[in-house]
Amino acid sequence: MSRTPVTVTVTGAAGQIAYALLFRIAAGDMLGPDQPVRLRLLEIPQAVGAAEGTAMELDDGAFPLLAGIDITDDAAVAFDGTNIALLVGARPRGPGMERGDLLEANGGIFGPQGAAIQAGAADDVRVLVVGNPANTNALIAQRNAPDVPAGRFTAMTRLDHNRALSRLSAHIETPVSDLARVTIWGNHSATQYPDLTHALANGTPVINRVDRSWIEQEFIPGVARRGAAIIEARGASSAASAASAAIDHVRDWVQGTPPNDWTSVALPSDGSYGVPEGLVSSFPVTSSGGEWRIVPDLEIDAFSRERIDASVAELAEERAAVEQLGLI
Ligand code: NAD
Ligand code: LMR
Repeated sequence: MSRTPVTVTVTGAAGQIAYALLFRIAAGDMLGPDQPVRLRLLEIPQAVGAAEGTAMELDDGAFPLLAGIDITDDAAVAFDGTNIALLVGARPRGPGMERGDLLEANGGIFGPQGAAIQAGAADDVRVLVVGNPANTNALIAQRNAPDVPAGRFTAMTRLDHNRALSRLSAHIETPVSDLARVTIWGNHSATQYPDLTHALANGTPVINRVDRSWIEQEFIPGVARRGAAIIEARGASSAASAASAAIDHVRDWVQGTPPNDWTSVALPSDGSYGVPEGLVSSFPVTSSGGEWRIVPDLEIDAFSRERIDASVAELAEERAAVEQLGLI
Protein backbone atom coordinates (compact mmCIF):
# COMPACT_ATOMS: atom_id res chain seq x y z
CA MET A 1 0.00 0.00 0.00
CA SER A 2 1.72 3.17 -1.15
CA ARG A 3 -0.67 6.00 -0.17
CA THR A 4 0.66 8.43 2.45
CA PRO A 5 -1.10 7.88 5.77
CA VAL A 6 -3.57 10.54 6.91
CA THR A 7 -2.93 11.68 10.47
CA VAL A 8 -6.03 11.54 12.65
CA THR A 9 -5.95 12.99 16.17
CA VAL A 10 -8.52 11.79 18.68
CA THR A 11 -8.82 13.52 22.05
CA GLY A 12 -10.42 11.79 25.00
CA ALA A 13 -8.81 8.64 23.66
CA ALA A 14 -9.38 6.61 26.82
CA GLY A 15 -13.07 7.47 26.93
CA GLN A 16 -16.17 5.60 25.85
CA ILE A 17 -16.75 7.23 22.48
CA ALA A 18 -13.11 6.84 21.50
CA TYR A 19 -13.29 3.14 22.37
CA ALA A 20 -15.93 2.70 19.68
CA LEU A 21 -14.47 5.26 17.28
CA LEU A 22 -10.81 4.28 17.02
CA PHE A 23 -11.46 0.75 15.79
CA ARG A 24 -13.75 1.97 13.03
CA ILE A 25 -11.19 4.54 11.90
CA ALA A 26 -8.50 1.85 11.87
CA ALA A 27 -10.80 -0.42 9.85
CA GLY A 28 -11.15 2.21 7.11
CA ASP A 29 -14.79 3.10 7.76
CA MET A 30 -14.05 6.83 7.89
CA LEU A 31 -11.53 7.51 5.13
CA GLY A 32 -12.09 4.53 2.88
CA PRO A 33 -10.67 1.05 2.36
CA ASP A 34 -7.49 2.23 0.60
CA GLN A 35 -6.44 5.04 2.92
CA PRO A 36 -3.86 4.25 5.62
CA VAL A 37 -4.16 6.21 8.87
CA ARG A 38 -1.80 7.21 11.63
CA LEU A 39 -3.56 7.73 14.95
CA ARG A 40 -2.57 10.34 17.54
CA LEU A 41 -4.25 9.82 20.87
CA LEU A 42 -4.50 12.76 23.29
CA GLU A 43 -5.45 12.25 26.92
CA ILE A 44 -4.99 13.96 30.25
CA PRO A 45 -1.96 12.60 32.16
CA GLN A 46 -4.07 10.46 34.53
CA ALA A 47 -5.69 8.65 31.60
CA VAL A 48 -2.65 8.09 29.37
CA GLY A 49 -2.24 4.59 30.83
CA ALA A 50 -5.79 3.68 29.87
CA ALA A 51 -5.25 5.13 26.37
CA GLU A 52 -2.20 2.88 26.11
CA GLY A 53 -4.50 -0.04 26.84
CA THR A 54 -6.78 0.98 23.99
CA ALA A 55 -3.72 1.28 21.74
CA MET A 56 -2.65 -2.26 22.72
CA GLU A 57 -6.05 -3.49 21.57
CA LEU A 58 -5.74 -1.54 18.34
CA ASP A 59 -2.40 -3.30 17.77
CA ASP A 60 -4.11 -6.61 18.42
CA GLY A 61 -6.65 -5.82 15.71
CA ALA A 62 -3.82 -6.12 13.12
CA PHE A 63 -5.60 -3.53 10.95
CA PRO A 64 -3.90 -3.41 7.55
CA LEU A 65 -4.61 0.34 7.25
CA LEU A 66 -3.19 1.31 10.65
CA ALA A 67 0.21 2.87 9.99
CA GLY A 68 1.03 3.78 13.61
CA ILE A 69 -0.24 5.05 16.95
CA ASP A 70 1.20 7.82 19.13
CA ILE A 71 -0.12 8.54 22.61
CA THR A 72 0.49 11.84 24.36
CA ASP A 73 -0.80 14.25 26.98
CA ASP A 74 0.65 17.22 25.08
CA ALA A 75 -1.70 19.02 22.67
CA ALA A 76 1.23 20.41 20.67
CA VAL A 77 2.41 16.87 19.93
CA ALA A 78 -1.11 15.56 19.33
CA PHE A 79 -1.99 18.14 16.68
CA ASP A 80 1.40 18.44 15.00
CA GLY A 81 0.81 17.80 11.30
CA THR A 82 -2.70 16.47 11.88
CA ASN A 83 -5.14 16.31 8.98
CA ILE A 84 -8.26 15.36 10.91
CA ALA A 85 -8.86 16.32 14.54
CA LEU A 86 -11.70 14.69 16.43
CA LEU A 87 -12.16 16.63 19.67
CA VAL A 88 -14.03 14.15 21.82
CA GLY A 89 -12.49 14.70 25.27
CA ALA A 90 -14.39 17.22 27.35
CA ARG A 91 -15.12 18.01 30.95
CA PRO A 92 -18.43 16.46 31.97
CA ARG A 93 -20.81 18.40 34.17
CA GLY A 94 -20.13 17.47 37.80
CA PRO A 95 -22.32 17.80 40.91
CA GLY A 96 -23.15 21.43 41.67
CA MET A 97 -21.67 22.70 38.41
CA GLU A 98 -23.64 25.44 36.66
CA ARG A 99 -23.75 25.89 32.90
CA GLY A 100 -21.23 28.76 33.17
CA ASP A 101 -18.82 26.52 35.14
CA LEU A 102 -19.04 23.92 32.39
CA LEU A 103 -18.40 26.48 29.67
CA GLU A 104 -15.41 27.81 31.62
CA ALA A 105 -13.95 24.35 32.27
CA ASN A 106 -14.28 23.45 28.60
CA GLY A 107 -12.87 26.80 27.53
CA GLY A 108 -9.73 25.71 29.37
CA ILE A 109 -9.59 22.66 27.08
CA PHE A 110 -10.81 23.90 23.70
CA GLY A 111 -9.00 27.27 23.72
CA PRO A 112 -5.51 25.71 24.01
CA GLN A 113 -6.47 22.91 21.62
CA GLY A 114 -7.58 25.47 19.03
CA ALA A 115 -4.28 27.32 19.49
CA ALA A 116 -2.32 24.07 19.13
CA ILE A 117 -4.22 23.26 15.91
CA GLN A 118 -3.34 26.67 14.51
CA ALA A 119 0.30 26.28 15.53
CA GLY A 120 0.96 22.81 14.19
CA ALA A 121 -1.80 21.17 12.19
CA ALA A 122 -1.55 20.43 8.46
CA ASP A 123 -2.85 23.08 6.06
CA ASP A 124 -5.84 20.92 5.18
CA VAL A 125 -6.84 20.26 8.81
CA ARG A 126 -10.51 19.48 9.42
CA VAL A 127 -11.88 19.59 12.96
CA LEU A 128 -14.95 17.88 14.39
CA VAL A 129 -15.93 18.75 17.96
CA VAL A 130 -17.95 16.03 19.70
CA GLY A 131 -17.34 16.96 23.37
CA ASN A 132 -20.22 18.91 24.88
CA PRO A 133 -21.36 21.65 24.76
CA ALA A 134 -20.16 20.84 21.24
CA ASN A 135 -21.25 23.95 19.32
CA THR A 136 -19.74 26.42 21.76
CA ASN A 137 -16.63 24.30 22.29
CA ALA A 138 -16.14 24.43 18.51
CA LEU A 139 -16.62 28.20 18.59
CA ILE A 140 -13.95 28.51 21.31
CA ALA A 141 -11.50 26.32 19.36
CA GLN A 142 -12.16 28.19 16.13
CA ARG A 143 -11.71 31.62 17.69
CA ASN A 144 -8.38 30.46 19.14
CA ALA A 145 -7.22 29.48 15.64
CA PRO A 146 -7.92 32.65 13.65
CA ASP A 147 -5.51 31.74 10.82
CA VAL A 148 -7.30 28.47 10.06
CA PRO A 149 -10.30 28.96 7.74
CA ALA A 150 -13.31 29.12 10.08
CA GLY A 151 -15.24 26.53 8.08
CA ARG A 152 -12.72 23.86 9.05
CA PHE A 153 -14.22 23.86 12.55
CA THR A 154 -17.44 21.91 12.90
CA ALA A 155 -19.51 20.45 15.73
CA MET A 156 -21.48 17.23 15.61
CA THR A 157 -25.22 17.18 15.04
CA ARG A 158 -24.99 14.07 12.86
CA LEU A 159 -26.13 11.91 15.77
CA ASP A 160 -29.29 14.02 16.02
CA HIS A 161 -29.69 13.76 12.23
CA ASN A 162 -29.36 9.97 12.38
CA ARG A 163 -31.81 9.78 15.27
CA ALA A 164 -34.29 11.81 13.23
CA LEU A 165 -33.89 9.50 10.21
CA SER A 166 -34.35 6.41 12.32
CA ARG A 167 -37.44 7.74 14.08
CA LEU A 168 -39.03 8.85 10.81
CA SER A 169 -38.20 5.52 9.19
CA ALA A 170 -39.99 3.60 11.95
CA HIS A 171 -43.00 5.91 11.88
CA ILE A 172 -43.67 5.79 8.16
CA GLU A 173 -42.34 2.23 7.75
CA THR A 174 -39.83 3.22 5.09
CA PRO A 175 -36.17 2.17 5.14
CA VAL A 176 -33.66 4.85 6.10
CA SER A 177 -32.01 4.32 2.71
CA ASP A 178 -35.17 5.68 1.02
CA LEU A 179 -35.27 8.87 3.13
CA ALA A 180 -33.59 12.20 2.34
CA ARG A 181 -33.43 15.88 3.27
CA VAL A 182 -34.04 15.72 7.00
CA THR A 183 -32.46 18.69 8.80
CA ILE A 184 -31.24 19.50 12.30
CA TRP A 185 -31.05 23.24 12.96
CA GLY A 186 -29.35 25.05 15.83
CA ASN A 187 -27.65 23.70 18.93
CA HIS A 188 -26.82 20.10 19.91
CA SER A 189 -29.06 20.48 22.93
CA ALA A 190 -32.71 20.11 23.84
CA THR A 191 -33.49 23.31 21.90
CA GLN A 192 -32.38 21.81 18.57
CA TYR A 193 -34.97 21.78 15.77
CA PRO A 194 -35.29 18.51 13.86
CA ASP A 195 -37.12 19.62 10.70
CA LEU A 196 -39.14 17.41 8.35
CA THR A 197 -40.48 20.25 6.18
CA HIS A 198 -38.31 19.32 3.20
CA ALA A 199 -37.88 15.61 3.94
CA LEU A 200 -38.47 13.08 1.18
CA ALA A 201 -39.37 9.39 1.18
CA ASN A 202 -38.64 7.74 -2.16
CA GLY A 203 -38.41 11.23 -3.63
CA THR A 204 -41.81 12.46 -2.45
CA PRO A 205 -42.50 14.85 0.46
CA VAL A 206 -43.19 13.17 3.80
CA ILE A 207 -44.76 16.22 5.40
CA ASN A 208 -48.24 15.35 4.14
CA ARG A 209 -47.93 11.74 5.28
CA VAL A 210 -47.35 12.50 8.96
CA ASP A 211 -49.56 14.16 11.56
CA ARG A 212 -48.69 17.63 12.79
CA SER A 213 -49.30 16.39 16.35
CA TRP A 214 -46.82 13.50 15.86
CA ILE A 215 -44.20 15.96 14.63
CA GLU A 216 -44.70 18.41 17.47
CA GLN A 217 -45.40 16.07 20.36
CA GLU A 218 -43.34 13.00 19.54
CA PHE A 219 -40.82 13.50 16.75
CA ILE A 220 -39.23 16.81 17.77
CA PRO A 221 -38.99 16.18 21.52
CA GLY A 222 -38.12 12.52 20.93
CA VAL A 223 -35.07 13.45 18.85
CA ALA A 224 -34.08 16.43 20.98
CA ARG A 225 -34.25 14.47 24.24
CA ARG A 226 -32.84 11.21 22.96
CA GLY A 227 -29.44 11.91 24.50
CA ALA A 228 -31.02 12.26 27.95
CA ALA A 229 -33.11 9.10 27.38
CA ILE A 230 -29.95 7.12 26.51
CA ILE A 231 -28.21 8.41 29.65
CA GLU A 232 -31.19 7.30 31.72
CA ALA A 233 -31.33 3.86 30.11
CA ARG A 234 -27.58 3.08 29.96
CA GLY A 235 -26.42 5.04 32.96
CA ALA A 236 -23.89 6.63 30.60
CA SER A 237 -24.14 8.88 27.57
CA SER A 238 -24.38 7.50 24.06
CA ALA A 239 -21.04 6.19 22.89
CA ALA A 240 -21.20 3.75 19.95
CA SER A 241 -23.91 5.75 18.19
CA ALA A 242 -21.95 8.96 18.77
CA ALA A 243 -18.82 7.31 17.35
CA SER A 244 -20.79 6.08 14.36
CA ALA A 245 -22.14 9.58 13.74
CA ALA A 246 -18.60 11.01 13.91
CA ILE A 247 -17.51 8.48 11.28
CA ASP A 248 -20.47 9.50 9.07
CA HIS A 249 -19.67 13.22 9.53
CA VAL A 250 -16.01 12.97 8.51
CA ARG A 251 -16.67 10.42 5.75
CA ASP A 252 -19.21 12.73 4.11
CA TRP A 253 -16.95 15.77 4.59
CA VAL A 254 -14.00 14.09 2.90
CA GLN A 255 -15.77 11.82 0.41
CA GLY A 256 -18.87 13.96 -0.32
CA THR A 257 -22.61 13.66 0.32
CA PRO A 258 -24.83 11.58 -1.95
CA PRO A 259 -26.64 13.36 -4.80
CA ASN A 260 -30.15 14.65 -4.00
CA ASP A 261 -29.60 14.43 -0.26
CA TRP A 262 -28.04 16.54 2.44
CA THR A 263 -26.90 16.06 6.00
CA SER A 264 -26.69 18.21 9.14
CA VAL A 265 -23.52 19.81 10.44
CA ALA A 266 -22.91 22.60 12.95
CA LEU A 267 -20.51 25.11 11.39
CA PRO A 268 -19.72 28.82 11.69
CA SER A 269 -22.69 30.68 10.23
CA ASP A 270 -22.18 32.87 7.17
CA GLY A 271 -25.44 34.64 8.07
CA SER A 272 -27.62 32.14 6.17
CA TYR A 273 -31.20 31.74 7.35
CA GLY A 274 -30.84 34.69 9.73
CA VAL A 275 -28.32 32.90 11.97
CA PRO A 276 -25.86 35.54 13.22
CA GLU A 277 -22.50 35.28 11.53
CA GLY A 278 -19.91 33.22 13.36
CA LEU A 279 -22.26 31.25 15.62
CA VAL A 280 -21.57 27.52 15.26
CA SER A 281 -25.08 26.40 14.39
CA SER A 282 -26.44 23.32 12.66
CA PHE A 283 -27.61 23.68 9.05
CA PRO A 284 -28.61 21.46 6.15
CA VAL A 285 -25.39 20.97 4.20
CA THR A 286 -23.91 19.17 1.24
CA SER A 287 -20.25 18.39 0.76
CA SER A 288 -18.13 18.19 -2.35
CA GLY A 289 -14.41 18.63 -2.89
CA GLY A 290 -13.91 18.41 0.88
CA GLU A 291 -15.99 21.52 1.68
CA TRP A 292 -19.37 21.90 3.31
CA ARG A 293 -21.91 24.14 1.63
CA ILE A 294 -25.07 25.29 3.39
CA VAL A 295 -28.12 24.33 1.28
CA PRO A 296 -29.41 27.70 0.03
CA ASP A 297 -32.89 29.14 -0.48
CA LEU A 298 -35.04 26.74 1.51
CA GLU A 299 -38.44 28.08 2.40
CA ILE A 300 -38.77 28.51 6.17
CA ASP A 301 -42.34 28.54 7.48
CA ALA A 302 -43.43 30.37 10.63
CA PHE A 303 -43.22 27.26 12.86
CA SER A 304 -39.70 26.47 11.67
CA ARG A 305 -38.65 30.11 12.03
CA GLU A 306 -39.70 30.17 15.66
CA ARG A 307 -37.90 26.89 16.44
CA ILE A 308 -34.71 27.90 14.66
CA ASP A 309 -34.70 31.29 16.39
CA ALA A 310 -35.13 29.70 19.83
CA SER A 311 -32.14 27.38 19.39
CA VAL A 312 -30.02 30.13 17.85
CA ALA A 313 -30.89 32.40 20.80
CA GLU A 314 -29.45 29.74 23.12
CA LEU A 315 -26.25 29.66 21.04
CA ALA A 316 -26.02 33.45 21.22
CA GLU A 317 -26.35 33.24 25.02
CA GLU A 318 -23.59 30.65 25.17
CA ARG A 319 -21.38 32.85 22.99
CA ALA A 320 -22.05 35.85 25.25
CA ALA A 321 -21.16 33.73 28.30
CA VAL A 322 -17.81 32.59 26.90
CA GLU A 323 -17.09 36.12 25.70
CA GLN A 324 -17.68 37.36 29.23
CA LEU A 325 -15.35 34.69 30.56
CA GLY A 326 -12.66 35.95 28.17
CA LEU A 327 -12.50 32.59 26.37
CA ILE A 328 -12.99 34.05 22.90
P1 NAD B 1 -15.81 9.80 28.67
O1 NAD B 1 -15.91 10.50 29.98
O2 NAD B 1 -15.97 8.32 28.58
O3 NAD B 1 -14.41 10.16 27.99
C1 NAD B 1 -13.93 11.47 27.92
C2 NAD B 1 -12.41 11.37 27.94
O4 NAD B 1 -11.91 12.68 27.69
C3 NAD B 1 -11.86 10.94 29.29
O5 NAD B 1 -11.02 9.79 29.10
C4 NAD B 1 -11.06 12.15 29.77
O6 NAD B 1 -9.89 11.80 30.49
C5 NAD B 1 -10.73 12.81 28.43
N1 NAD B 1 -10.35 14.23 28.54
C6 NAD B 1 -10.82 15.16 29.39
N2 NAD B 1 -10.17 16.33 29.20
C7 NAD B 1 -9.30 16.13 28.19
C8 NAD B 1 -8.35 16.96 27.55
N3 NAD B 1 -8.15 18.22 27.92
N4 NAD B 1 -7.61 16.42 26.56
C9 NAD B 1 -7.77 15.14 26.18
N5 NAD B 1 -8.66 14.29 26.78
C10 NAD B 1 -9.40 14.79 27.76
O7 NAD B 1 -16.87 10.53 27.73
P2 NAD B 1 -17.48 10.04 26.33
O8 NAD B 1 -18.66 9.20 26.61
O9 NAD B 1 -16.39 9.52 25.46
O10 NAD B 1 -18.02 11.45 25.77
C11 NAD B 1 -17.13 12.47 25.41
C12 NAD B 1 -17.88 13.76 25.15
O11 NAD B 1 -18.75 13.62 24.04
C13 NAD B 1 -18.76 14.24 26.31
O12 NAD B 1 -18.61 15.64 26.40
C14 NAD B 1 -20.16 13.90 25.83
O13 NAD B 1 -21.13 14.73 26.43
C15 NAD B 1 -20.03 14.19 24.36
N6 NAD B 1 -21.04 13.62 23.48
C16 NAD B 1 -21.41 14.37 22.39
C17 NAD B 1 -22.35 13.88 21.51
C18 NAD B 1 -22.77 14.67 20.28
O14 NAD B 1 -23.69 14.21 19.59
N7 NAD B 1 -22.20 15.82 19.96
C19 NAD B 1 -22.91 12.63 21.73
C20 NAD B 1 -22.51 11.88 22.83
C21 NAD B 1 -21.57 12.40 23.70
C1 LMR C 1 -26.15 12.80 23.20
O1 LMR C 1 -26.75 13.49 22.38
O2 LMR C 1 -26.30 11.56 23.28
C2 LMR C 1 -25.23 13.46 24.19
O3 LMR C 1 -24.79 14.69 23.70
C3 LMR C 1 -25.96 13.61 25.48
C4 LMR C 1 -25.10 14.14 26.58
O4 LMR C 1 -25.55 15.07 27.27
O5 LMR C 1 -23.97 13.64 26.78
